[in-house]
Amino acid sequence: MATNRTFTMVKPLAVTENNAGAILQMIQKAGFKIVAMKQCRLSKEAAGAFYAVHKERPFYGELVDSMSSGPIVAAILEKADAVNDFRKLIGATDPAKADAATIRKLYARSISDNAVHGSDSDENAKIEGDFFFSMLERF
Ligand code: RTP
Ligand code: MG
Repeated sequence: MATNRTFTMVKPLAVTENNAGAILQMIQKAGFKIVAMKQCRLSKEAAGAFYAVHKERPFYGELVDSMSSGPIVAAILEKADAVNDFRKLIGATDPAKADAATIRKLYARSISDNAVHGSDSDENAKIEGDFFFSMLERF
């Protein structure tokens, strides 16, 4: 059975461009409850560990550099069918292919600076949430 939680990060360029507030408002207006949230900066090592699944991909180095280039806002989100609904809200990885009114269509600059991360499965949502948040930080 699908759990009702997913994990997201507002990526560094979107935070630097002061779009975190607008993006979080879209997320809340779409019906997601914020269970946990914080702003922090990933070291290269931490960004590399978070995206280790992509280690062999040609874009891995660029991805690690981009994700460690400034602060991110990390959050655990709750909603029925959270993983699938959130992927619909953020849109395609490449903003040029993202549907209108999705977060990436509105706020992404490129395929690598694509504004937000969203978990791709319930299993990864749990792993990713546990990467950032202790039990004391969840409400
Ligand atoms: P994410 O994990 O960040 O939510 O993104 P996603 O599932 O839509 O895409 P994924 O395939 O998991 O890729 C992770 C991130 O790597 C960067 N990327 N760059 N230059 C490229 O061809 C390329 N492909 C992917 C993006 O930042 C993507 O979000
Ligand atoms: Mg992914």
